[in-house]
Amino acid sequence: MSGRSFASTLRDRLPFLRWSVLRFALGGRTFVKTGQVGDGRERVARDYVLALSPTGDPDAVLAALDDFARNHSLLVNIGDEKGLILDAALRKTTPTLLLELGGYCGYSAIRTARLLSADARLVSVEMSPDNAEIARALLAHAGLADRVSVVVGTIGDGGDTVKRLIEEHGFGPGAVDFVFLDHDKSAYLPDLKTILEAGWLHPGSLVVADNVGIPGAPDYRRYMRDAEGTSWRTVEHHTHTEYQSLLKDLVLESEYLG
Ligand SMILES: C[S@@+](CC[C@H](N)C(=O)[O-])C[C@H]1O[C@@H](n2cnc3c(N)ncnc32)[C@H](O)[C@@H]1O
Repeated sequence: MSGRSFASTLRDRLPFLRWSVLRFALGGRTFVKTGQVGDGRERVARDYVLALSPTGDPDAVLAALDDFARNHSLLVNIGDEKGLILDAALRKTTPTLLLELGGYCGYSAIRTARLLSADARLVSVEMSPDNAEIARALLAHAGLADRVSVVVGTIGDGGDTVKRLIEEHGFGPGAVDFVFLDHDKSAYLPDLKTILEAGWLHPGSLVVADNVGIPGAPDYRRYMRDAEGTSWRTVEHHTHTEYQSLLKDLVLESEYLG
């Protein structure tokens, strides 16, 4: 084994040895409050990608973000391993209206939008205005700005964001084909319930939820288990936390049965 491949194996197996991962752990509370780690890495990642990837090439933008997250500073993108699960779920349907909760730097929005038909639209709801700006810059760089709207807000903000989705983005009864949950893990279930109460889903709508293993969304997992075969049909994908191969994670893919 060459020195380089040994180093990359070590880095993948023992992610805690990386300073950027330790720094991330130290910045955990900041991240929960602000949606950023606190050392400016999200802005550095944006500049890195803008400098090193060609315009109009979504796969090159994703590769540059993966490279940054793996070799410079860890980012909480869904990443390349779990990203394949998201891609496969998207390819099972032909969604025209999609909702993402938790946009961060735009990685999963770019991943999603690159697979959509020209008439489809993704709305990415992101709590942090700074992250929303970074995501918009990278979506524009990837040539996908016309397919994605990044909305600053949260589903749990008392109705403001829900109202904007209805009035400005065409959300209504049965209109949403695909939902990607990747935001505050304690908000997965309440936000899904808000979406259900609004009646936005239809039988066949897919909901994909990242990080159900780590950091974990046990109430969401229990809800899907209890509803199995009645209102939902769920596949649990056993996978790994982004950008390493030590920690296991779960991605849930749930079909709404009505
Ligand atoms: C794990 S990151 C999302 C990663 C992104 N989906 C990707 O794969 O590229 C979580 C994001 O959710 C945002 N967030 C946290 N709570 C939120 C909420 N209640 N509604 C919307 N966004 C939220 C954070 O600011 C952060 O940008």
